[in-house]
Amino acid sequence: MERIVILTGAGISAESGMGTFRGAGGLWNDRRVEDVATPEGFARDPAMVQDFYNQRRQKARQVAPNAAHEALARLQRDYPGEVTLITQNVDGLHEAGGSPSVIHMHGRLDGALCAACDHRWDAPEVMEVAHPCPACGAGAGRPDVVWFGEMPYFMDEIFEALSRCTLFAAIGTSGQVYPAAGFVQEAFRAGAHTVEINLEPSAVVSDFAETRFGPATQTVPAWVADVLGG
Ligand code: APR
Repeated sequence: MERIVILTGAGISAESGMGTFRGAGGLWNDRRVEDVATPEGFARDPAMVQDFYNQRRQKARQVAPNAAHEALARLQRDYPGEVTLITQNVDGLHEAGGSPSVIHMHGRLDGALCAACDHRWDAPEVMEVAHPCPACGAGAGRPDVVWFGEMPYFMDEIFEALSRCTLFAAIGTSGQVYPAAGFVQEAFRAGAHTVEINLEPSAVVSDFAETRFGPATQTVPAWVADVLGG
């Protein structure tokens, strides 16, 4: 029986119509990360940042989970061993695909956070500039998304799962952003078998024992079938 840890990135949602960040048509191709995904960018131009996330929140509500999300949900439901699903994605497509538990290490578009008192609430579809916090009233509402320079969420839980895992799969992530890009090395140190599932080799492909290339809607259901059938 395996203890499985899965890390997903934007590539698992690409075939649902959500943009990726890097590569053709990537979100970072026509805007600067520093302007829309850092606390400094938010302080400089909160209207532009709220608008950027409002657009992504509206898009995420228009798209549907794909066969890859649904296959991981099947694995979580049907596999007799532990399955820990960690995502860098801020969309809710794993949950919409049926996943019973998802660790959102970079936060969620559907979450709002008060920059003044740390209160969290469900984000409305459109967040205003100086959005009032329902708890403290300050006009400090922001998307509950982890920006560059901020600490990703649930890191203790993540490293604990990695230290015990026997099978690690990274799906649809370019391996260019840490700490997520280093998870494969933690898993390897724990003695796990490591699999990269992607359209093309990531920046850390050489850290993986096994690779499966192709669109996630084909490669992920096939991998899940192998694990369940194994
Ligand atoms: N099937 C499988 N993989 C795909 C597909 C597909 N249909 N389409 C694209 N990919 C792969 C690409 O080959 C690439 O490796 O998805 C990956 C997308 O890489 P990025 O755009 O860099 O997204 P990601 O790795 O999730 O970015 C990590 O960076 O900008 C920050 O916080 C943001 O969570 C994000 C983090």
